[in-house]
Amino acid sequence: MKVIRTICELKNELDLCREKGKSIGLVPTMGALHAGHASLVKRSVNENDVTVVSIFVNPTQFNDKNDLMNYPRDLDADCRLLDGVGAAIAFAPEVEEMYPEPDTRQFSFAPLDEVMEGPFRPGHFNGVAQIVSKLFYAVEPDRAYFGEKDFQQLAIIREMVRQLGLKLDIVGCPIVREEDGLAMSSRNMLLTAEERTRALKISRTLFASLDYAKEHTLQQTKAFVEEAIKATEGFCLEYYQIVDGNTLQPVEQWSDSDYIVGCIALFCGKIRLIDNIKYKEVR
Ligand code: PAJ
Repeated sequence: MKVIRTICELKNELDLCREKGKSIGLVPTMGALHAGHASLVKRSVNENDVTVVSIFVNPTQFNDKNDLMNYPRDLDADCRLLDGVGAAIAFAPEVEEMYPEPDTRQFSFAPLDEVMEGPFRPGHFNGVAQIVSKLFYAVEPDRAYFGEKDFQQLAIIREMVRQLGLKLDIVGCPIVREEDGLAMSSRNMLLTAEERTRALKISRTLFASLDYAKEHTLQQTKAFVEEAIKATEGFCLEYYQIVDGNTLQPVEQWSDSDYIVGCIALFCGKIRLIDNIKYKEVR
């Protein structure tokens, strides 16, 4: 696997691939890679001739300076993982390479960015769109892979591709969980042992709510999750929203949509965690 640091070298390398008619898959990440990231990379390796994985902790999407500072970084471990799953290129630029001057672009994804994460993380999705669009321009991939773990991000990336008229497929990949159910996240390693045990309550509550939902209204199911999380010491709930999986707008009743997802964000101690669960999905 090649580790590339500059956009210029990346473009040269990928031009050679394209000349040979090779297809290119891109997996954008912020590093501290785990099996969730690996599942995206494996899918891309299966579906493309060349897989590029970007590793870049993007400052413009962090609305909390401490979160940016404490974000785990380990390029050597990341490269070992990527080598093992067949990635061809790790693109790991410095901040100056991606932002030689400040990016003043302002995106609007309303109403997708006005719900859930939107109000709690002002500017977050604008920063995500800035970096992901720069990566799309640099790599010009045939396909790009994103996890459903960040459900709102995936919907917003699809909308960004539509707005910019880019020609690539966005592939959504299912959430990978720890054996005990906790959604994998780079931030999990920042949890204390006690918090890690407590964090289990999130996926357990979401899974329990699937059963509960079979015999209760949507509003009752929402309250079931909210109450269980609020009752847990050391948790601070930001939101639990049950939304239409395409528009991300809250739904009132189970019959309102055939694609319904519950999305949660909370603080477990100082660490912010998100997760989601599908109540109904169009097949
Ligand atoms: P990061 O949090 O590193 O995640 C990179 C990709 O891995 C995202 O598409 C995310 O949804 C996916 N992912 C993370 N945990 C997962 C899990 N447990 N199961 C499945 N997929 C998972 O998301 C970002 O980085 C950044 O916002 C980025 C898109 C790279 C832009 O900076």
